Amino acid sequence: MLLETSSLTKSFGGLVAVDRIDLAIRKGEVRGIIGPNGSGKSTLFNLISGVYRADPGGKVVFDGRDITNADPHRIARLGVARTFQLLRIFGGMSALENLLIGHHGLIRYGTASAILGTRRVRAEERRVRQEMMELLSFIGLADFAEMPAAEMSIGQRRLLALGRAIAMRPKLLMLDEPAAGLSPVNVDKLLETVLALKSRYGLTVVIIEHILKVVMETCETITVLDHGEKIAEGPPAAIKEDHRVIEAYLGKEMDDAEVREFLRAS
Ligand SMILES: Nc1ncnc2c1ncn2[C@@H]1O[C@H](COP(=O)(O)OP(=O)(O)OP(=O)(O)O)[C@@H](O)[C@H]1O
Ligand SMILES: [Mg+2]
Repeated sequence: MLLETSSLTKSFGGLVAVDRIDLAIRKGEVRGIIGPNGSGKSTLFNLISGVYRADPGGKVVFDGRDITNADPHRIARLGVARTFQLLRIFGGMSALENLLIGHHGLIRYGTASAILGTRRVRAEERRVRQEMMELLSFIGLADFAEMPAAEMSIGQRRLLALGRAIAMRPKLLMLDEPAAGLSPVNVDKLLETVLALKSRYGLTVVIIEHILKVVMETCETITVLDHGEKIAEGPPAAIKEDHRVIEAYLGKEMDDAEVREFLRAS
């Protein structure tokens, strides 16, 4: 397994946001995580990526290493990249600069120049720029390399957030609602890009997504959370018919209207 959690739990005061979650994600897998609003999906990502501290007793093992409550930078350097539900790209910076920042998170340039000498560092920087330009073309943003992110469309910014996570050369890519706010055409484009990136870079992917079409078409296995607990796990076809899953979504508002529509239609 590339990622394993056991009994992972997070309470905020009296609220148990993530409740004893066991997950086992195989290398090369594309895993979907769904669940109604407030069911603990983002909190689960925050625990795995070290943003929140887990309650005692929980454990996260990545690539054979215990990373429970490790520093977020260390977790990132070990190969876990994630995007945030609310985009965290730098609006004043160009697309290329955003990717370079993602990549620089990985390298300590001060140390590098001390060891390698400035000329070799410059050569290395040229190489990295070229690599990041290739990544920009791969995600379809080459023409926007110099454009400030703030001037881009939401679809382009979502792609850029994806690119920035990839710039860290991760083994595991965790996407928190990567398609939120996109038109159906852009949702399809984003999905295609995720799958293309996965095969090109040999990634393992975990996607939190409200748009059920996305998880149903993309993931081999889906994990369903409700009130912090795992209520179901399995292939899309079985999840669609699971009565606990259907019940969890009934009576929910807003974002989940689309989910109810989907469950009814199938
Ligand atoms: N920092 C925090 N402090 C207090 N409560 C929090 C905090 N972060 C999350 N929660 C609570 O934990 C629960 C789970 O939240 P979380 O954001 O993980 O849900 P989610 O499944 O990602 O929801 P959504 O689909 O709306 O993104 C919610 O009740 C939320 O209010
Ligand atoms: Mg969330």
